[in-house]
Amino acid sequence: MAILKIARMGHPVLAGKAEPVADPAAPEIRRLVADMIETMLDANGAGLAAPQVHVPRRVVVFQAPEERSDPGLSEAERFDHTAPLTVLLNPEIEVAGPGVEGGWEGCLSVPGLRGYVERPAHIRYRGVDLEGRPLSRVARGFHARVVQHEVDHLDGILYPQRMADLKQLIFESEARHWLKEEE
Ligand code: NI
Repeated sequence: MAILKIARMGHPVLAGKAEPVADPAAPEIRRLVADMIETMLDANGAGLAAPQVHVPRRVVVFQAPEERSDPGLSEAERFDHTAPLTVLLNPEIEVAGPGVEGGWEGCLSVPGLRGYVERPAHIRYRGVDLEGRPLSRVARGFHARVVQHEVDHLDGILYPQRMADLKQLIFESEARHWLKEEE
């Protein structure tokens, strides 16, 4: 296992369309995923897409832990809002319900910044795991946001391109001014 170098905004690998994985069980994919997980955890990220480590393949890893979800949710609601550490190859997303939700996003390829992005609040995603088994889940809240953010990376899209108002692209060190306003 190894911690991989993360590409930063402006590197062409982040702007292109990634290729599907032909053989999910291939040893090089298994190795890539192990390194991506180690890199993501080391960098304290919630998700990572293969192009971010200079590999233009349709591979993402992510997690939506309970502490990132709305504390007001019931036990049953929390199910769609959370996800364990997940490996997803060749993912597809469809919008599953009406409504958009705004939230502050960060990205390991855009270090030091935060941006306010509105995205569909309720999605279904599908893909395959490392054994090639199909995986299909409904996602809401932070879970829906992290999956959409990571899958955007596979299509060469970084979150600032999803922003409606670039005044809401800010340095982390200034986030306190915005959080104050939300209270
Ligand atoms: Ni990102």
